Amino acid sequence: MKKVFLSILAVLSVLTFSSVKEVQSNGFQYYWMKVKAKDKFERSVIANTGAAIEIVKDDYVIAYGSDLELAAIKKLGWLVASSNLADEIKDFPTTDAPYHNYTEITNELKDLANKNPDLVQLSSFGKTNEGRDMWVVRIGTDLTKAESKPAVIYMGGHHAREHLSVELPLMWAQYLVNEYRSGNQKVIALVGSRDIHIIPTVNPDGMEYDIQDGQYKMWRKNRVRNSNGTYGVDLNRNYSYQWGTGGSSSDTNSEVYMGPAPFSEVETIAMKNYIESHTNITTLLSLHSFSKLILYPWGHKYDGIPTANDKAVHEKMALTMAQWNGYTPEQTSELYIASGDTTDWAYGAHKIISFTFELDPGNAGMGGGFYPGASVIQPVFQKNIEPFMYLLEYSDNPYRVLSPTMQTVNH
Ligand code: ARG
Ligand code: ZN
Repeated sequence: MKKVFLSILAVLSVLTFSSVKEVQSNGFQYYWMKVKAKDKFERSVIANTGAAIEIVKDDYVIAYGSDLELAAIKKLGWLVASSNLADEIKDFPTTDAPYHNYTEITNELKDLANKNPDLVQLSSFGKTNEGRDMWVVRIGTDLTKAESKPAVIYMGGHHAREHLSVELPLMWAQYLVNEYRSGNQKVIALVGSRDIHIIPTVNPDGMEYDIQDGQYKMWRKNRVRNSNGTYGVDLNRNYSYQWGTGGSSSDTNSEVYMGPAPFSEVETIAMKNYIESHTNITTLLSLHSFSKLILYPWGHKYDGIPTANDKAVHEKMALTMAQWNGYTPEQTSELYIASGDTTDWAYGAHKIISFTFELDPGNAGMGGGFYPGASVIQPVFQKNIEPFMYLLEYSDNPYRVLSPTMQTVNH
């Protein structure tokens, strides 16, 4: 009860401590909206306006979107309150120095690879619209034989403003190497027997744009220039599996703009090519923030995965990981329908066992939301070490979470 009260307070603080001012460069005002919605069906209606739903509660959601989406939501008659967040999001950057910008990420990764050539390979698997390298670190012993080992892929930063989702993969790469060197037997065994792929940020252009003036811009999408001169496609609506079938928008100004075609973006094409060129990948984790959730396919429809074993593996693994990080495990569409995300594609097209984590915090408001400050980095990483390790451990055959003798069906 106390928790509910506090979360309402947090939401109210978002809605009151702000004034109307332009946030983004396309001439639109952007708003936080509190919208009545009692179930996933009503939430899907809201998602279809093109606003991005960021918090889901029993009888309402908090969404973020432009004037257009605000108008569409008003028309539904469910709007409770709305406010521009321009002032509030200017507060954090000076205190957020521990977060890594693109140059710092690049340097950390190069440093890790240079100091550990026997364990770490750094490569660029694509270029962004603005010409930045998309970095992947590959970790394992005897990297020439990596392809013959079971592989797991971790990624963050699909959404520009979700900076914590970039810190964790970077820390995970460093942690694995440090623990290997300091004699952690479990890590030594797993680094020796698995092929580990870590992509700290899928959307470096968006991330840099979000932080470039020393004040956050609440940017979500990439920085492609759309044909009408607007900017950005939502990379987590641009994957091809059931692309454009709900919860994404064909309006270029929308926060959840799906792009002109599936895999229209250089970043998602690079992801597709990379994942498809490593057919040993059995397990995938895509990091987002915020809400403290563990999500698994489907996101594009309410039905569950039709293959019983596959559904059971996702459910069991999500439940197990939740014991460590305390997040809520559920099928993605329990939130609301959205199509074209990474995990629906990875599982739908390639039968990779796939999860999305919505990291901490649980709420928006002061010290929350996308910009929770630097103090959360270490504790949020700590509580996710065991879940990350578990995915690594079971990537040889995720089906053995159901029974020790069960064989991999689809790989
Ligand atoms: N909240 C994230 C996003 O909007 C991940 C979940 C997306 N998929 C979904 N079906 N709700 O991209
Ligand atoms: Zn996200």
